[in-house]
Amino acid sequence: MTGTDVTVLGLGAMGRALAAALLRAGRTVTVWNRTPEKADTLTNSGAHPAESVSSAVRASPLVLVCVLDDETVHELIEPVAGDLRGRTLVNLTTTTPEQARAMARWSGVARVEYVDGGIMAVPDMIGGGDTFVLYSGAAEAFDRNRPVLELFGRAVFVGDDAGAAAMYDLALLGAMYAMFAGFEQGAAMVRGAGGTAGELAAMAAPFLRAMTGSFAEFAVGIDTPARYEPVQSAEFTAAAIDTIARAGAEAGVPTALPTAVRAVLAGPIDAACP
Ligand SMILES: NC(=O)c1ccc[n+]([C@@H]2O[C@H](COP(=O)([O-])OP(=O)(O)OC[C@H]3O[C@@H](n4cnc5c(N)ncnc54)[C@H](OP(=O)(O)O)[C@@H]3O)[C@@H](O)[C@H]2O)c1
Repeated sequence: MTGTDVTVLGLGAMGRALAAALLRAGRTVTVWNRTPEKADTLTNSGAHPAESVSSAVRASPLVLVCVLDDETVHELIEPVAGDLRGRTLVNLTTTTPEQARAMARWSGVARVEYVDGGIMAVPDMIGGGDTFVLYSGAAEAFDRNRPVLELFGRAVFVGDDAGAAAMYDLALLGAMYAMFAGFEQGAAMVRGAGGTAGELAAMAAPFLRAMTGSFAEFAVGIDTPARYEPVQSAEFTAAAIDTIARAGAEAGVPTALPTAVRAVLAGPIDAACP
């Protein structure tokens, strides 16, 4: 028997934000969390607390799981395979693509429709205008549940391969962390020369925003290299990065980052560079 529209398993910062967005939109929601007190604010807003994962799963045709990691998902979900049968499971826990595919294979055997998700937002952004969430896996189940999933942000389906959402999610996060590492390296350099990270931040934001305009052209070079005429030669890029590494060394800043960046963008670093 199903009593509510959606079940949310896991009420950490993200699970609570997801459940709150559903309640704001007038959906009926069952919630479960290992530490039950974290459900209190949600139950005060109308959510139904479940005493077990099994009863939580049985309460709704659509079950969302958002917990710490892949291992926790398996610990919670595998014992309730019978309860999940015939329902849709949307896993919004961050996993690797292969972990998502393994969960999809398990779901196939358990006769559960499996959609994997990657949330490209922090909890405060859930339901906001610029927010998007990536999904992949069972396309029909995604389409059927799209009106609910759109409540978290734009719902972007990236393919039948259950691992696709995790792959794009981690690719985007990888680019983000590389950008932050670059900023930290730059801040160390300008501080070494009497500047401040704050001044650099004010310059970096508009500069990097403008640079993102070249992603689309860069992508052509990666997707179809034969048709690509690079604006900057590998030689030019290598010389620019060698100069950055040299400036970093002069300022006493470690050169591990420019060394890695050069290896990716222009081959091994110049042996003559300090
Ligand atoms: N927060 C973000 O900005 C963000 C952004 C994108 C994606 N995500 C992803 O969303 C997922 C949840 O993140 P979060 O921010 O909600 O993390 P969190 O606040 O640390 O919450 C972790 C959740 O996992 C549960 N949990 C951990 N170990 C468990 C176990 N052994 N058995 C049962 N439940 C267990 C916790 O239960 P207790 O409350 O009982 O500890 C809690 O509900 C993660 O995969 C994260 O990568 C988060």
